[in-house]
Amino acid sequence: MGRKKKLLKFAEILSFSNVYECYNVQEPSLVGVDMQPVDLKGQWREKHFKNDLPITLELACGRGEYTVGLARLFPDRNFIGVDVKGNRLHTGAKDALKEGLSNVAFLRTRIEVIDHFFAPGEVDEIWITFCDPFPRSIKENRRLTSAFFHEKYRTILRPGGLIHLKHDDDDFIKFSLSSIAADPHCTLLLQNLDIYAGQLPMQELSIPTLYEGKHLAAGKTIKYLRYRMMNDE
Ligand SMILES: C[S@@+](CC[C@H](N)C(=O)[O-])C[C@H]1O[C@@H](n2cnc3c(N)ncnc32)[C@H](O)[C@@H]1O
Repeated sequence: MGRKKKLLKFAEILSFSNVYECYNVQEPSLVGVDMQPVDLKGQWREKHFKNDLPITLELACGRGEYTVGLARLFPDRNFIGVDVKGNRLHTGAKDALKEGLSNVAFLRTRIEVIDHFFAPGEVDEIWITFCDPFPRSIKENRRLTSAFFHEKYRTILRPGGLIHLKHDDDDFIKFSLSSIAADPHCTLLLQNLDIYAGQLPMQELSIPTLYEGKHLAAGKTIKYLRYRMMNDE
């Protein structure tokens, strides 16, 4: 995408009532419409969604296909897409506004500081869709299923909250399975290493994303893991 187009999207996003942004991960805080500071930690339902419904996060949401797709399927739940790239989540945010989906929001931040924006137990479920696999082991901690990130998720998820992982990369899935097995708070509930080989275990797995399309075109199989996270010691 050209620089001019990106700048236009960055400017337009400032007027979106469903987008919040963190500009400084060293001192994490949020701004909403017109860069107005807003504190949503522990208050997403009350201040943004204005309902009492459970909250699902989509991490590494890119253009937010899952966030918007899940919101269409489940109007009785709230969905927040999280990504560091504003020009990507611009697409999902704009679609949600056009469709009048009031159960959708987007958060532009690095996921490393996600625990600054949600109170303990505020999140019901997490989806992770085709996150960067960071194949070099030196970057292991940057993988979204590493112990570093699990610790963050554990602070914001309700006890027994679910994590759904959809991915193409065999090594990343192998790494995630070991990370789940090594974490006493995690219990693997389901693993399907080729979701399109048979009947899909659940309809929401068919929501297409930009990266899934690329991986399918390259002949990759799509895998799905579901696991539960307890937050007791
Ligand atoms: C491979 S893309 C997948 C996007 C989308 N889920 C899809 O399936 O098309 C990975 C996304 O993760 C985001 N990302 C990677 N590391 C991140 C981090 N630490 N915090 C926030 N977003 C991150 C990138 O900006 C990118 O949009």
